[in-house]
Amino acid sequence: MITGNTLLRSAAPEGREEVRDLLDPSAPGGPDRLFAGAAALKEQAVGLEIYLRGIVEFSNICAKDCLYCGIRRSNRRVERYRMEEDEIIDAALDAYRSGFTSVLLQAGERTDREFIELAERVVRRLKEITSGGIGITLSLGEQEAATYRRWFKAGAHRYLLRIETSSPRLYRRYHPAGHDHALRKRCLDDLRRIGYQVGSGILIGLPGQTADDLAEDVLFLKEMDVDMIGMGPYIPHRDTPLFDRASGFSPGRQLELGLRMIAVCRLLMPDINIAATTALQALSPEGWRRGIRAGANVVMPNFTPARYRAAYSIYEGKPAAGDGADPLAELERLFAGLPEKIVTGRWGDSPRFLKRKMPDTTG
Ligand code: 5AD
Repeated sequence: MITGNTLLRSAAPEGREEVRDLLDPSAPGGPDRLFAGAAALKEQAVGLEIYLRGIVEFSNICAKDCLYCGIRRSNRRVERYRMEEDEIIDAALDAYRSGFTSVLLQAGERTDREFIELAERVVRRLKEITSGGIGITLSLGEQEAATYRRWFKAGAHRYLLRIETSSPRLYRRYHPAGHDHALRKRCLDDLRRIGYQVGSGILIGLPGQTADDLAEDVLFLKEMDVDMIGMGPYIPHRDTPLFDRASGFSPGRQLELGLRMIAVCRLLMPDINIAATTALQALSPEGWRRGIRAGANVVMPNFTPARYRAAYSIYEGKPAAGDGADPLAELERLFAGLPEKIVTGRWGDSPRFLKRKMPDTTG
């Protein structure tokens, strides 16, 4: 019998050429059918729900020097900060108590003992204070397996580490010496082995990146069998080396490419969590809403205290969403009229991960 399911699945692209053609913004007909197909498959695979994570960016001190990033080590024009332990906990609890049952703790990359212990204490205390109620995702870069294990034991259960690009050649182009693509990939393997739900993703629309490169990225994420994807359009930052090479930058094209990537990832990986990331919302006030309609099912509003926000300037024009007195009401307004409904009171784990853990429940 041919069910709606099989029809949708047979519409999923398989080869690199097919994926590339779906990503091409100059293809005739526009992206509406692609987005509608992805939205329909999302409904079947993960339902019409929007999961939330409150982001706390607790420090912008970074050992990395990525050529596209505004908080890269060599940028002397950004004021560096690190939040105190209690400040981080207060910000995370603020999110938790506003209905954002899961939080994402993010910071520039450091591997020193002080940093490792701070993150461990924060995770442990947050779990204690909420009697285990809070879901914690970490995004703290490349670390040794022993560090990932410590944080996992303390209570973190999801980790985001973008591969940035699946191509070792492009990786070298966007990162100076001392940045190692193979090591980054190994970190993803370590995280999986330790038991985290693993998220990865890439930068979309970097100067010199082609639709073929992006197609490879999508196939890489599928091959890695990631549980979550957090990816977003590249947005130039004037205090970075890549700025000069981004002369033909078009916000509209970046937005469309970002939305196409979400849709194509949903078609190939129906049951994972895919975030409509902050960069989409930076390109348009409709960015998140359109991301959800293109197949995303997670949004991550910012709970970093206002006085630190501006300094976490990864790219220019980062929006201040989540600033209002009632962030949940703000989101309800943003998504008003959509068939998707915001979920509170649940972690919103990746269905893919839950199935992998309990294979006999897959249907
Ligand atoms: N534009 C968009 N995203 C960026 N990131 C870093 N610099 C930029 C930029 N200029 C992303 C990277 C990194 C994440 C924290 O921010 O993918 O993993």
